[in-house]
Amino acid sequence: MAKIKTVYTCGECAGQTPKWQGQCPHCGAWNTLSETVSSPASGGGRFQSWSTGSSVQLLSDVTAEEVPRDPCGIDELDRVLGGGIVRGAVILIGGDPGIGKSTLLLQALSATGERRKVLYVSGEESPQQIALRASRLAVDPSRVRFLAEIRLEAILPAIRKEAPEVVVIDSIQTLYTEQVTSAPGSVSQVRECAAQLTRMAKETGTAIILVGHVTKEGALAGPRVLEHMVDTVLYFEGDTHSSYRMIRAIKNRFGAVNELGIFAMTERGLRGVSNPSAIFLSSYRDDVAGSCVLVTQEGTRPLLVEVQALVDDCHGFQPKRLTVGLEQNRLAMLLAVLHRHAGVAAFDQDVFLNAVGGVKIAEPAADLAVILSIVSSLRNRPLPEKLVVFGEVGLAGEVRPVARGQERLKEAAKLGFARAIVPRANAPRQPVEGLEIHAVERLEEAVAFCRG
Ligand code: TYD
Ligand code: MG
Repeated sequence: MAKIKTVYTCGECAGQTPKWQGQCPHCGAWNTLSETVSSPASGGGRFQSWSTGSSVQLLSDVTAEEVPRDPCGIDELDRVLGGGIVRGAVILIGGDPGIGKSTLLLQALSATGERRKVLYVSGEESPQQIALRASRLAVDPSRVRFLAEIRLEAILPAIRKEAPEVVVIDSIQTLYTEQVTSAPGSVSQVRECAAQLTRMAKETGTAIILVGHVTKEGALAGPRVLEHMVDTVLYFEGDTHSSYRMIRAIKNRFGAVNELGIFAMTERGLRGVSNPSAIFLSSYRDDVAGSCVLVTQEGTRPLLVEVQALVDDCHGFQPKRLTVGLEQNRLAMLLAVLHRHAGVAAFDQDVFLNAVGGVKIAEPAADLAVILSIVSSLRNRPLPEKLVVFGEVGLAGEVRPVARGQERLKEAAKLGFARAIVPRANAPRQPVEGLEIHAVERLEEAVAFCRG
């Protein structure tokens, strides 16, 4: 008989050591190691099951079929999924607790349920709670099968027996498999459960949607540990206080990434916002200092987002640089560029930066808007009226072009903006109707233009 081998597994990072120690040698956490059986299921077995019967072949001999997608009926969700749910796909939806994951998925399942067999597995809420929510959302619950269960050993046979086409697991952190001894929600449990569900999805062709809460600590035991295993990773953005919710595709084996789906949370659940370009402008329309409108390109859609800066005398030893929705490190860099190349110093000032509406902007095309809003706040003078800007700023003070300049300008003109500061290389060859274009090559030119 084979000897049972035990190892010590960290509950934080799932790292393993052969001997017990007080501190995990992988992540440095204290008292997190617990004795586990090194089971073949979480070792070589996983790889064997993927690859049984495969032989080496030429890629040209493989017939590549276009994967069929089934739209789930919620346009904004289909947009981020790249057109719909693919058979056998594993989709991870992450987000803060209370942001609307369960709401959206119940809406999606009841819409999908009209044509396909669907199953909702909840380890968090009772059937009564889900039924109550379904009646609040006014969706048709008659075709949604429901299972309240947290044991993986009961969930897998249920999926096999029911053979649904789409399964929602809400949430992966509540699941528990007997093969791992640590508590539900720990990294080793989350990983093992997700790995087994993924295997099941690939074997049976059932699409599985995993819900993952972003934990307070951020990365550990949260959805991030699963990103490499699944086909598609979607994250909810936007804060729970505003009514807008954004879903972004971070990874998608079946579609484009960075596509953004935009919803509004209403009494009746999440409603897609089909024409969102103006929702990130503040409703305050008088010209104020420190505000600059940026045209950002999220996936295939241009969006107008207002960037607000507040620059104020610093009364501490270290000036604050805080950002909401924009990158903090990039702000520090842009302040240095602004000082060095345009002679505007802010080293004795606190700088606060906010992207209106809770949207997160990662693209460097926001640089010019950030700089101009800071300059405007520092001088306490509003920027010219009806102005939009975009452009990346380099360390040498040059303004670099960004992708899809023409589309951005068209969208701005459509929304009634009258002038635009753009990188020289993005200047349109033909004039855009209603828009006065100021093409700049260097940061100083943009700052000088705004001085008026
Ligand atoms: P929920 O889907 O339970 O969040 P998650 O599963 O991500 O934790 O969403 C809960 C929030 O949504 C809650 O604060 C109430 C709000 N909500 C509405 O505003 N309208 C609705 O119709 C529903 C169902 C929820
Ligand atoms: Mg929930």
